[in-house]
Amino acid sequence: MSGTGAPAAGSHGVNTAAGHPPAAPDIARSITDPRAYAELNTLLGNFAWLRANDPVALIETPTFDPFWAVTRHADIMQVGRDKALFHNGDRQTILADRAGAARVREMTGGTHLVRTLVHMDDPDHIKYRQLTQSWFMPGQLRKLEPQIRALARRTVDEMAARGGACDFAVDVAALYPLRVIMLILGLPPEDEPRMLKLTQELFGNQDADLTRGTAGLSDATVAAEQLIAVFMDFSAYFGRVTADRRARPRDDVSTVIANSIIDGAPISEFEAMSYYTIIAAAGHDTTSSSTAGAVWALCDFPAEFARVKANPALIPGLVEEAIRWTTPVKHFMRSATADTELRGRRIAKDDWLMLCYLSGNRDEEVFDDPATFRIDRDPRHLGFGYGPHLCLGQHMAKLEMRILFEELLPRLKSVEFDGQPTLTASNFVSGPKRLPIRFAMA
Ligand code: HEM
Repeated sequence: MSGTGAPAAGSHGVNTAAGHPPAAPDIARSITDPRAYAELNTLLGNFAWLRANDPVALIETPTFDPFWAVTRHADIMQVGRDKALFHNGDRQTILADRAGAARVREMTGGTHLVRTLVHMDDPDHIKYRQLTQSWFMPGQLRKLEPQIRALARRTVDEMAARGGACDFAVDVAALYPLRVIMLILGLPPEDEPRMLKLTQELFGNQDADLTRGTAGLSDATVAAEQLIAVFMDFSAYFGRVTADRRARPRDDVSTVIANSIIDGAPISEFEAMSYYTIIAAAGHDTTSSSTAGAVWALCDFPAEFARVKANPALIPGLVEEAIRWTTPVKHFMRSATADTELRGRRIAKDDWLMLCYLSGNRDEEVFDDPATFRIDRDPRHLGFGYGPHLCLGQHMAKLEMRILFEELLPRLKSVEFDGQPTLTASNFVSGPKRLPIRFAMA
């Protein structure tokens, strides 16, 4: 399909009748290719070009249904906030190619493998979100602060014990958010390795280093098969958790989920499993990536390291800027429920739109010198999304990162790169994969 008005085979058509030419093939490739997110510079250049020249760009590739890439901060907010006009659940919520989407349809008869908050629209979305929302508000989280601080101290002690060199992404950042998730879900620490593997496979699903072996299959089928295998593992694990919390309720999020009542009936096994999955998965790699992103930036911008060390009141700013600068969640998709217009482009009912959070967070109209890491910015970033699907765990993510840096920075006398850091190859959730550092600690 190339702007001729002919719909892509077996797909929803984008309204090319509006006559808007598609973005250049190299740009379309870079936005969709997981590897471009590991290299980043070319991708960031392409996003900058799109913001300036084609901010709602038609993306056509041989493997994906066509979609609109929304790259400006203001437009992402406009789409994000309009929950009636732009739905999460009608089409794939995360960019999936045609073969992967077909495999999911074959497996489930529907569009999604699981049904979590990000796959829902009102009236269900608000009902399911309210089940756990109060758990994730600052007042409730404050009660957990002593336990989270104990986990942060343990994590910093373990880093200190590594004797001045480590891979911060793998040895430190990957474990701490997982421990916090295990705490709020009330899961035993001995299950940490299993949960670590499952959540990384779920989100690092496009990076060959983090996936299960599946020789002889196409890329899309491999991705779908892996997701299915991971969800089955999640399902088996959390099925036992549900039974346990129904029999023996405790003060944890798992108990809230397991005993939820929706429209007068107990939550279904499938939806309970979906709920645990999103909390376990959404709260882990995202926070690890932002935490490792902060340390990457402190190595890259030593003046900011000196500033925040001298003034711990700047730690919340460090946390916000790390989330903007890293933007671990690169995109979410929406689809239009009616014909509409966005920045002069005619969007047709059912058209698919990519909210390019990484691009919005580098928008020059909102952030001066956006490539520079500055811990005193106004935190108007889109790292947690915007609108009714705004991250449920944002207060928790910020709290746990703040506590970690409150424990780490007073002890960290120096920190620098000790080799080439690398990023995970994923167009969905990605961040530092390897972050070798040398450091001195008190
Ligand atoms: C720095 C860390 C985090 C980042 C960058 C992040 C990012 C995001 C983004 C961008 C969305 C919006 C989805 C959309 O546009 O449809 C989202 C939603 C969500 N996040 Fe987070 N997240 C983080 C941490 C967490 C944590 C710690 C949890 C829970 C423990 C969590 C749970 C969720 C849930 C449940 C949703 C779905 C909300 C809904 O659809 O109503 N996240 N997150």
